[in-house]
Amino acid sequence: MRDVAMVGAGMTHFGELWKLSLRELFAEAALAALESAGADHLDGLWVGNMSAGQFVGQEHIGPMLVEQLGMSGVPATRVESACASGGMALRAAWLEVASGQSEIVMAAGVEKMNDGADVTAVLATAADQEAEVYHGITFPGLYAMIARAHMAAHGTTVEDMAWVAVKNHRHGALNPHAQFRREITVEDVLGSSLVAEPLRLLNCSPVSDGAAAVLLVPLSRAHEFTDRPVRILGSGAATAAMALADRADPATLDAVVTSATRAYRMAGIQPAQIDVAEVHDCFSIAEICCTGAMGLTDGCNPAQAARSGFTALGGRRPVNTSGGLKAKGHPVGATGVAQAIEIFAQLRGEAGDRQVPDAHIGATQNMGGSGASSVVHVFTRG
Ligand code: COA
Repeated sequence: MRDVAMVGAGMTHFGELWKLSLRELFAEAALAALESAGADHLDGLWVGNMSAGQFVGQEHIGPMLVEQLGMSGVPATRVESACASGGMALRAAWLEVASGQSEIVMAAGVEKMNDGADVTAVLATAADQEAEVYHGITFPGLYAMIARAHMAAHGTTVEDMAWVAVKNHRHGALNPHAQFRREITVEDVLGSSLVAEPLRLLNCSPVSDGAAAVLLVPLSRAHEFTDRPVRILGSGAATAAMALADRADPATLDAVVTSATRAYRMAGIQPAQIDVAEVHDCFSIAEICCTGAMGLTDGCNPAQAARSGFTALGGRRPVNTSGGLKAKGHPVGATGVAQAIEIFAQLRGEAGDRQVPDAHIGATQNMGGSGASSVVHVFTRG
């Protein structure tokens, strides 16, 4: 296996993007990534997308998207793992370069959710149909049950969860690509409309359109494309039971624990060495579960990490400096790649007002459904 580096990145604004089609969103991000690395061709494209078929009626998007770049003929494949599709596309692209099969490979993600589909029903197709969806549950409902289990097991409170949203909106306010660039208060969260007890509107990630793309090459060739490459040190993926009822403890996300352990082992690091991380805060309880499962709060109670400032900009280990899914937005197939773009910017010292001083090691964690799939990557300066 060869060492692999990220050498270029591009993304669209995230939000309700009515004027751009799926292929136009992808092209905007992909062309920006190619341009940032001075690259003019690809050996392969892996594109994360949860459900273009249901959101915009288009399957078989690989060839369509690569043709949009004027590169028909290049192998191009859609990767689906629900909300972890983008992170899994990054892993597929990394494997293709690491194996020696290809030299210049793009990992991208795209989703257009605001195009008239019943978004809640489409998203619910990523839960267990027979055990869960048939009985009427939705994703906010599943994460509400995870929240209840966490509250019962660990004493987590609605204020703890509100602090995650407050922190991530504060970070998102500094991100020009974010869907929401406004700060909110704990009172705003607790006073927002109830979605699924105990989760309120401001505990939820929004419905978003957007695309993101990164370019991977062998580390040995990275300086042909940039003087500040970012090396992929480790990649770990895992699965767990689809249905919450089939898990020993719904508050513990086993796939996150396992994928993080695998990525850390490959990278040869301990979580305490991570300077900055992007984790999957699709609902604010998810950030609490994921930071705990990844060991990012140094053994302290993860529910207290946002409130105490530990995971805030300026704190010991900033988490979701981009604004996270909560404030940056969550176009599901694009999210995992956008997470890598934030770490790319942080490790290159290009994150502007969101910059974590002296960031050397970063991590991303992207999750599918209610945690049945998870993928973790560890990065360092090249
Ligand atoms: N955070 C902050 N503001 C939000 C928001 C969110 N998550 N969702 C919507 N808003 C805002 C809108 O911008 C709008 O503001 P405006 O009136 O100033 O224009 C207002 O709230 C109402 O928006 P609307 O689109 O009517 O909200 P909704 O009630 O239809 O949807 C949710 C709200 C929370 C149900 C929806 O965002 C949702 O389903 N989120 C979860 C998505 C999900 O499950 N993703 C997969 C995770 S596994």
